[in-house]
Amino acid sequence: MSAMNGRRAAALVAVAAAAASAVAGVWGGQGPSPDQSPATLALGDSVFHGKVGGALCYVCHGPAAKGVPGLGPDLTDKEWLNADGTVESIAKVVETGVPKPKKLPAPMPPKGGGQLNAAQVKAAAAYVYSLSHPAK
Ligand code: HEC
Repeated sequence: MSAMNGRRAAALVAVAAAAASAVAGVWGGQGPSPDQSPATLALGDSVFHGKVGGALCYVCHGPAAKGVPGLGPDLTDKEWLNADGTVESIAKVVETGVPKPKKLPAPMPPKGGGQLNAAQVKAAAAYVYSLSHPAK
């Protein structure tokens, strides 16, 4: 009797593990959903426009992030040169800058030339992401 209960328990564990990995598979495929909370986007907006952190995103990318010829690309379109459109890839560009631009003549400095902390980098990335991924 106790042996049978043990086998049943083992079967249940196996089913639960399979279900968990199926769920992880679905989520893993889409990546973690980015933080698009109003507070994060508000901080990102402030960073982008140089109100906190001292970054100059708006100078090179334009106040509406539509790009400035010769300085920075449009960040509101679907074309990504150094990122893949995910919030993680955008955060990476913000962190490291673009030492060798694909199209423009001059590099983007790390953290947009500012002294951004980790939360500000993340918020700026969330803000940039929101420009090409409007809330539904
Ligand atoms: C000195 C000008 C300059 C500043 C300041 C600047 N950028 Fe950039 N940014 C660029 C250039 C140049 C590129 C690369 C364009 C290329 O590859 O041709 C770029 C690329 C990017 C990309 C990737 C776009 C793509 O299509 O791959 C993102 C995202 C981005 N910048 C966000 C920011 C944010 C956010 C800030 C502020 C924290 C910032 N930038 C500050 C000039 C700038």
